[in-house]
Amino acid sequence: MSTMEETKTAATVSRRGFLGGIGAAALGASALGLGLLGGCAPQPRAAEAGGEAAASGDATSPALSQTGSAASPYAQINPQDWDFTTNSIEDFANTTMFSELKIGSLTLKNRLIKSAASSMVPNEEQKAVAYHGRIAAGGMGAVLVEGSYIMLERLDKRVNVADNDMRMTIEESPLAAICAEVHSYDVPCLVQMKTATPGIVYLWENMGEEGETHKASLLSDADIQMYIEDTIDGAARLQAIGFDGIDLNAAGDNLPARFFSRFGNDRAADDPYGPATIENRTRIACEIIRGIKERCGADFVVQVLVNGAEENDGALGDNALVNTPEETVAICQALEAAGADALELRLGTFAFHEAQFVNDGVFAGYGYDGATSFGTFFDFDSHFSGLLDGSHSGCGLIMGACRYVKQHVSIPVGGVVFMDPALAPDYFENALSEGWLDMIYMHRPVANCDAEYANKLREGRIDEIRPCCRCLNCLGGLCRVNPCNNSVFTDAMPEGYEVRPADGDKNVMVIGGGPAGMEAARVAAERGYAVTLYEKNGLGGLLDFAEMVKGKHESLGRLRNYLSRMLEVEGVNVVTGQEVDAAFVREQSPDVVIVATGGVRPELAAAGTAATPVIGVTDFLASEVGERVAVLGFNAQATDTAHYLIAQGKKVTVIAPEPAEAFGTGQAMMLNAFVKPAFFAAGGRLMPECTLKSVGDGEIVVANSFGMDVALACDCVVDASTMSPNTALADELSGEFDVHVIGDAAEPLSIQNAITTGNLTARNC
Ligand SMILES: Cc1cc2nc3c(=O)[nH]c(=O)nc-3n(C[C@H](O)[C@H](O)[C@H](O)COP(=O)(O)OP(=O)(O)OC[C@H]3O[C@@H](n4cnc5c(N)ncnc54)[C@H](O)[C@@H]3O)c2cc1C
Ligand SMILES: Cc1cc2nc3c(=O)[nH]c(=O)nc-3n(C[C@H](O)[C@H](O)[C@H](O)COP(=O)(O)O)c2cc1C
Ligand code: SF4
Repeated sequence: MSTMEETKTAATVSRRGFLGGIGAAALGASALGLGLLGGCAPQPRAAEAGGEAAASGDATSPALSQTGSAASPYAQINPQDWDFTTNSIEDFANTTMFSELKIGSLTLKNRLIKSAASSMVPNEEQKAVAYHGRIAAGGMGAVLVEGSYIMLERLDKRVNVADNDMRMTIEESPLAAICAEVHSYDVPCLVQMKTATPGIVYLWENMGEEGETHKASLLSDADIQMYIEDTIDGAARLQAIGFDGIDLNAAGDNLPARFFSRFGNDRAADDPYGPATIENRTRIACEIIRGIKERCGADFVVQVLVNGAEENDGALGDNALVNTPEETVAICQALEAAGADALELRLGTFAFHEAQFVNDGVFAGYGYDGATSFGTFFDFDSHFSGLLDGSHSGCGLIMGACRYVKQHVSIPVGGVVFMDPALAPDYFENALSEGWLDMIYMHRPVANCDAEYANKLREGRIDEIRPCCRCLNCLGGLCRVNPCNNSVFTDAMPEGYEVRPADGDKNVMVIGGGPAGMEAARVAAERGYAVTLYEKNGLGGLLDFAEMVKGKHESLGRLRNYLSRMLEVEGVNVVTGQEVDAAFVREQSPDVVIVATGGVRPELAAAGTAATPVIGVTDFLASEVGERVAVLGFNAQATDTAHYLIAQGKKVTVIAPEPAEAFGTGQAMMLNAFVKPAFFAAGGRLMPECTLKSVGDGEIVVANSFGMDVALACDCVVDASTMSPNTALADELSGEFDVHVIGDAAEPLSIQNAITTGNLTARNC
């Protein structure tokens, strides 16, 4: 068969089905001479009846199908397919996932590894020790501790200006105590050594605006020697306080990565660390690895975090100098030859730092999946050398690159970012058992959401795993689904992670079964109270509707399922179909009343006309909205409605009295950094500090901040104006009962606010 024919055959391979996209990419790449693994992609075990991933939500939007049939061309770029979230595994303990793995001198009890990431509590010993200890107790195969400590006394102090407040010497830091705690659970413990390229300053305010790539030439020869010596010295000091090894961060904006690719390595051709040869490009990392092995001994493990597939996300097309798959393999082989014990792969994007380590953010815009933080799109069939499958909302994205690298090295290879085996057990188990990769690295689902993730998965208790929503609230804020991590051992939660036992015998009545009410009921019951939750409809509150509008990327259906399952586990008495009023409360006479009834929607802003109806946000999915739609409000509901409509190919104008920065209030800043640019690139328009004045036939009039009336052609107004607090019931009962108001009922805002207020109220009642 000719090369041309082979290419055609590859192109007709379906992108659907288990790892199908990567399979097709592999065949296509093979035809191009890349030498990827030939043969069939591994197939999922047939899903048993009802075996569709227990953890998967099931809400599907009536209008925008997940197979990409929406009007917007953006939905066609990376059509999404959720069929991969199946589970047919009955005995997780006997899977490859939970089989032993050797990394250098270490034997891990399973293939799940906590990747290194900032805990946000590095220097507070009690928090830091408890945080890492819980992850080890929760059954992970190894724990990689974050690199937020001063390892490199000279270079780091100079370059990592913004990080310096957090950093301290290895010996001053809580690292020894953290390591001892992790070891007490018989879990290997490594620590990350990271040093950013000079010029990189991590400031949260700069999110989405970086766009600049920092080059290797910023380092003098003396800097390089300092970096190498300090890293080797740091590793020896880490070994002295008990660590089993280090994780050398050589990915993204970290220093060695800038030397690996010709894109970042702008040094002279004759420079020994310059771009001319792979040997020169990897010289820094290899000197470090060899130096550590000489100083600490062969058994001290050195794993290296590298870019598995590279692309310039700031200027698509400016890719001539990024590493090709062949260069990546040559780099990995050099690292192995120098003595590296394992490789962790993640996506190498260049311009937006956060996209390097939470690249699932590019899939956050439902209907324009694959959007970069610069308003452009990765078509995953053609970008990243065709190694990645973009049809699973970013889940397992890096596995194609792992598969390719693993064929060319003999040390274990794993991948990180949105590797969530509880979401798609068959998908990950098949990839592991077929040898696409050796281990799975995870951070958010384990460290923030559920430290018991691994144990629960091994025991098949998938529906008891608190799911990560990929919402990115944790970048600079509290986790959406678990308010503990940043709050434990503070005034908010002086008791730490574990809840305090019940404060006497109390009957707790929770009114409302949205996320706030369910979390409050769960925690109150865990403390030992007798809890009854009343819900006038079914459990979930706004979560189901939100998932219809937002799509499945944020796993809101999983979150609803988890919260409702935990009500069963904790023995909460759940009464659905019961609307509660003050008389009903008096009848039941509880000791504590928690009002979680959600917010109150305002009256519609105006009466509509035949040609331009005005509808409430909850009605818009079932209505004919025409082509030109005005959305009222900058809150999360309005923002998501606007995103949805623009992905449908509508012309959308969002109008609100607040300033422009309020667009997306209640949503994570980071998620907005990924989604907003695509919204604007697709033609979305904001009218801040404006109010709707009148509605005519086919047009509306808006009063703007300049005092002028502006006329807009408009087929429909969707009123998603911010809700009001819902305290009428609580006001009526106060004085008679111990009443608490939580979630949207207290302040219409967000899921994170609902769960945090629910959790804290129940901890303290
Ligand atoms: C389209 C859309 C997009 C959204 N996007 C986001 C987002 O990106 N990020 C984010 O954080 N949030 C988002 N939200 C908001 C989020 O869903 C809410 O903030 C959250 O659900 C509030 O939780 P809650 O439990 O306080 O209230 P709700 O979810 O409103 O639940 C209240 C429950 O109380 C019940 N109830 C009310 N009165 C009574 C009564 N008298 N007796 C018994 N039961 C009663 C209701 O039936 C309901 O089930 C979005 C919402 C929508 C609709
Ligand atoms: C707040 C935060 C800080 C992080 N800090 C680091 C870091 O210092 N070094 C690193 O290699 N990765 C870091 N990461 C990336 C994580 O290790 C991990 O790769 C990422 O969260 C994706 O994996 P997940 O989907 O399992 O969370 C960080 C992630 C987050 C959310
Ligand atoms: S904030 Fe969101 S993305 Fe971060 S860990 Fe929590 S649920 Fe996951």
